[in-house]
Amino acid sequence: MVVVSFVNMKGGVGKTTLAVNIADFLTKRNSKRVLLIDVDPQFNATQCLLKGKEYVTYLENSGTTIVDIFNYTKAASVSVVEGTSEKESKAYNNIIPYNTGRGFDLIPSQLDLFRFEMAPGQGTENRLKNYLNHIKEQDEYDICIIDCPPTPSVWMTSALIASDYYLIPSKPDPISMTGLDLLEGIIKERKENYGCGCKCAGLVLTVVEKNTNVYKEAVSYFSESPKWKSFLYEPAVLKRTNIAKGQLNGTFIIDIEDSDLRRQFSLITQEFLKRVEG
Ligand SMILES: Nc1ncnc2c1ncn2[C@@H]1O[C@H](COP(=O)(O)OP(=O)(O)OP(=O)(O)O)[C@@H](O)[C@H]1O
Ligand SMILES: [Mg+2]
Repeated sequence: MVVVSFVNMKGGVGKTTLAVNIADFLTKRNSKRVLLIDVDPQFNATQCLLKGKEYVTYLENSGTTIVDIFNYTKAASVSVVEGTSEKESKAYNNIIPYNTGRGFDLIPSQLDLFRFEMAPGQGTENRLKNYLNHIKEQDEYDICIIDCPPTPSVWMTSALIASDYYLIPSKPDPISMTGLDLLEGIIKERKENYGCGCKCAGLVLTVVEKNTNVYKEAVSYFSESPKWKSFLYEPAVLKRTNIAKGQLNGTFIIDIEDSDLRRQFSLITQEFLKRVEG
C-alpha cells in the first residue's frame, strides 16, 4: 500500500476535491483498492461522502473516525458521575474504515479533532503511521490518500510522517504560487525534525480556466522552473461550477457530463499512478 498526502498550506485550493475524486477514479477506472483518510478537523472530505444525517447517526453509533486513531492510548476523560476516569481507546482491529458505497473506504474526520491538538508531547504525530502499518499488514488496500488541512498542524505533520509521497494541488494564481516555497520549507523542516522520507508526487493545477493568461503564465513559470518542472502535471483540474454545486449531494467528477473535465481528470489519475506506483 502506497500512502500519499494531499497538502498545501494555502486554503481552498482544491485539495479535498482532488483527493476525493482521485480516490473515486482510482477505484472505478483503475480497479485500485483505495482508502481515503480525512485528517482535517473541517471534515470536508467526510462531508462529500457522508450526508449530514447519515454522519450524525454514524457518530452516534460509534463509527470509526480519525479521532480513534489519534486517541490510541488511554485518554483521560472526566465524567460528572464517576469523576476523572480512564477511557479505553479502540484497538487497531476495531478501527474499521467506513464503506462509502463508491467502492472505496474512508476514515472520516470530526470536529473533535481540535481537542487533541492541545495535548502535545504524547507521540500523537506517530499514531497515524502506526495505524497504517497495521493496515498494511492486512493487505486490503493498494493506495491510501490523506486529505490534509491547510495548516502546518500536528495533523499535517502526522500525515507527512505516515506518507511515502505528497501531492501538491495549487491554483494557478500568483498568490497560491508564492505559497509553494513556504510549503516546501515546512516539509523540509518536518523531514529534518521527524525523519520522514516522503517524496513529491507532483504538482496539480486546480480550478483552471485554460484560456486565461493567469493559467498560461503559471504553466510557463512552472515548466521553466528548475525546481518545479519535473513535478508539474500537464493535465489540470478544470474550473466547473458543477463540481462545487454537487459536492455535498454526492456528485463526483466521474458523474458529471463533461468530457473535457473527465478526460483531464482521467489523465491526472494516470499520471498520479505512474508517479506513485512507478
Ligand atoms: N475544479 C473546480 N471548479 C470549481 N470549483 C471548485 C473546483 N475545485 C474545488 N472547487 C470548490 O472550491 C472550494 C474549495 O475546494 P476544496 O474544499 O477542494 O479546497 P481545499 O484546498 O480542500 O480547502 P481547505 O484548505 O479549506 O481544506 C470548494 O467550494 C469546492 O467546491
Ligand atoms: Mg480541504
